[in-house]
Amino acid sequence: MENQYIMKGGVPLKGEVTISGMKNSALGIIAAAIMTDETVTIDNLPNVRDINVLLDAIKGIGATVVRVDDHKVRINGSTISDVAIDYDAIRRIRASYYLLGALLGKYKEASVALPGGCDIGSRPIDQHLKGFRALGATATVEYGMVNTYADELTGSHIYLDVVSVGATINIMLAACMANGRTVIENAAKEPHIVDVANFLNSMGASIKGAGTDKIRINGVSRLHATEYSIVPDMIEAGTFMIAAAATKGDVIIKNVIPKHLEATSVKLIEIGAKVEEFDDAVRVYSSSRLGHTQIKTLPYPGFPTDMQPQMSMLLSLSEGTSTVTESIFENRFKYVDELSRMGAKIKVEGNVAIIEGVPGFTGAAITAPDLRAGAALVVAGLVADGITIVDSIKYIERGYEAFEDKLKALGAKIEKLAVDDERGVQKFKMMA
Ligand code: EPZ
Repeated sequence: MENQYIMKGGVPLKGEVTISGMKNSALGIIAAAIMTDETVTIDNLPNVRDINVLLDAIKGIGATVVRVDDHKVRINGSTISDVAIDYDAIRRIRASYYLLGALLGKYKEASVALPGGCDIGSRPIDQHLKGFRALGATATVEYGMVNTYADELTGSHIYLDVVSVGATINIMLAACMANGRTVIENAAKEPHIVDVANFLNSMGASIKGAGTDKIRINGVSRLHATEYSIVPDMIEAGTFMIAAAATKGDVIIKNVIPKHLEATSVKLIEIGAKVEEFDDAVRVYSSSRLGHTQIKTLPYPGFPTDMQPQMSMLLSLSEGTSTVTESIFENRFKYVDELSRMGAKIKVEGNVAIIEGVPGFTGAAITAPDLRAGAALVVAGLVADGITIVDSIKYIERGYEAFEDKLKALGAKIEKLAVDDERGVQKFKMMA
């Protein structure tokens, strides 16, 4: 049964929220975990749908997966009996492609259904395949499957044509068990690249330079057991920072690495919000209407595309005219129509959104078009006058753990209801 969020806006969010582990590094790390035949323990795992789908997929090819608790899992890859993955579920998550790099590195062979994921643009995987081929593998796409095979993998010098998070991680996975040395140039520098590299190194890989644009990998013949804790999710944290500012609240966001949040912090400060940094927390507060600015999404350490919808939503409430340029994915303004129905004034021209700030939103029944846009619309509902209902929240559940519970603990009036729960809707409206 589909669920929806119902909200009554107008409550400034106040209090403390604890951020979960980073979804996008956890996906790479789970794939990497099957590369050893020894048992790997992963902690601070976010309990979200994409992670559970990937765990099911590795179970499906025979890996042993023991869920110690909601945030801790033990994985043993010695029982894997298949290198082909073709489930409907796996097509729904983008990161299924990491199983290509992991299986190719370990078994020199893999077949994985072509990745799907959020519909935010054309999302090719040519750079992943270019990397595998440079390592000596064949890589073909047939009948919706990506097939890759090598007699042996040999280290190589790879220059990425575009800065790609997925391609960087995938090539790193395959190359860490290739013969000899691989250099990836023009590599992505996102914190999740560093997290996956640190995890692989803790299993005995030899990866240097992760976090810079040149990654050097010396192949090893085997990887071993490890225990590892995933870094905090900078996009979940950024979303709560925006929620604090948008509702004119005061929130301490705990279990974060403030350095990872700088692109968002700097913009918030620029438009007038207050941001205080602590060792592993940030406090965001604001009591007045914020100002306008210009934003362009860029690979890390630039402003993250995964924060673009949330920031655009905030700028829609700010004074003056802002422009937001989306330079990573061409289809990431799909929430604009929904936000306009709440009163926002946004005009999209190509990859630029021109946002004329309005003093407030009004509640409406809207649909989440994808993960981050969905989260932005929920925050809009927490600001809006009256009742907002957001459906298709399955997208939000892909990447935000217990989103409604965390918001409720900050004072938000929000409930998760089944889409046909009319009585629940009436009850919420009466109580709110
Ligand atoms: C990762 O996607 C994230 N997903 C995305 O998070 C995130 O938006 C994106 O990186 C950018 O930061 C995961 O980590 C699972 P890319 P990915 O390869 O790896 C082009 C979220 O909301 N490109 O860095 O698919 C591509 O079209 C999600 O959590 C090629 O041309 O992104 C894009 O313009 C959504 N050829 C740019 O590179 C390729 O072979 C960056 O994409 C690969 C990518």
